[in-house]
Amino acid sequence: MRLDRLLGNLPHGNRREARLALAAGRVRVDGASISDGRLEVREFSRIELDGEVIQAGKAARYFLLHKPAGVVSATEHPQHRTVLDLLDEPDKHELHLAGRLDLNTTGLLLITNDGLWSRRITLPQTKLAKVYYVETEQPIGAEYAEVFAAGLYFAYENLTTLPAGLETLGSHSARLTLYEGRYHQVKRMFGHFQNKVVRLHRERMGSLALGDLPEGAYRALSQTELDSL
Ligand code: URA
Repeated sequence: MRLDRLLGNLPHGNRREARLALAAGRVRVDGASISDGRLEVREFSRIELDGEVIQAGKAARYFLLHKPAGVVSATEHPQHRTVLDLLDEPDKHELHLAGRLDLNTTGLLLITNDGLWSRRITLPQTKLAKVYYVETEQPIGAEYAEVFAAGLYFAYENLTTLPAGLETLGSHSARLTLYEGRYHQVKRMFGHFQNKVVRLHRERMGSLALGDLPEGAYRALSQTELDSL
């Protein structure tokens, strides 16, 4: 929301008062004096007027979770345990997932209360690398890598997938790097060759890796990690 609108909407405020307070340097956002009312402020900003706190600013929260199989990537579910059930945090209803993994997929999942951040990292235009370890029912053919690099046409969405990188590890295992996250994308890409994915595990997203975080465990992201994303 724009700073001038937020100030104008205060119980005893109005737009003229807001303009005057801004022009006189009486408004501080996150400690800095701000005179431009067009500044976009969020629920995470601390806003002061004449030294009085008018919005304390919520803490922005960012978690990296190692999702086990059988836990659903949703905030609520009638049958299954959800990834939020694995978090021991206050105000869990304010959290949401930055991308999803299928019920039986394991690995790296990001959870946050920052909607702008999650939108940015999940947009295909951001081209954040997502690295998956894949095991398949049938042998992985030599032609797969070229087809994945060229992109596959998905009729349902009427789009061609972005070039993806395939590194074959064994006859039935590979590491696949995607730069977007279409619905069931990995399974559909291998499905193009009638090859069923029998194990799927997300190892990385951009510069973030699971490391030795055990299944079902989670940790907060550090500022350095957030900056490097
Ligand atoms: N692609 C899939 O098919 N499933 C996932 O869980 C993630 C990517």
